[in-house]
Amino acid sequence: MSATLPLPAECERILISQEAIAQRVAELGETLSATYAGSNVRLVTVLRGGLFFISDLCRAMTIDLTLDFLAVSPYSPGGGASVRMTKDLSDDVTDAPVLLVEDIVDTGLTVNYILSMLRGHGAKSVEVCTLFDKPARRIADVPIAYTGFEIPDTFLVGYGLDLRGRYRNLPYVAALRDEVVLT
Ligand code: IMP
Ligand code: MG
Repeated sequence: MSATLPLPAECERILISQEAIAQRVAELGETLSATYAGSNVRLVTVLRGGLFFISDLCRAMTIDLTLDFLAVSPYSPGGGASVRMTKDLSDDVTDAPVLLVEDIVDTGLTVNYILSMLRGHGAKSVEVCTLFDKPARRIADVPIAYTGFEIPDTFLVGYGLDLRGRYRNLPYVAALRDEVVLT
């Protein structure tokens, strides 16, 4: 295994190791390859946090697929519940099966918004695959077909998840120290 970044001072501990993530992504890739065989599935993720997961997941899939990217207004803790799209899909997904690949589902508001948008684009089917699921804080009851890890109600960084834009490139997922303020 290659060298890993040292744990940042703002982090308490590693919650999910690089090896555990790789193993779970491989399992999801195998499952999804069987489910979507022969369908030319469109994998869609949300910039920027989903980049890391979609990049590993698509390479764990052994079927034909395409990638596309969306962007929505950034999440701000305590900053209101509205979600706004800042980049739409590049491809037409009319009548296509779409798999929304998310880094994390927390309140569910982001996925809820994106699901209705993808259905509005005329996708044949839309399923959600999230690497991390934080069910404790759910507001919108969104359907999640595939989950990597269910996690406790704690703010995480690494493998795409950021604290004010930082720490996305940690190859593992870490919990923050209690004293770190999320504003
Ligand atoms: P939502 O609350 O389900 O709409 O999640 C919105 C977004 O909040 C996610 O896509 C992440 O970008 C961000 N988010 C939620 N929980 C965490 C976390 O623990 N660490 C980093 N980002 C998070
Ligand atoms: Mg996100």
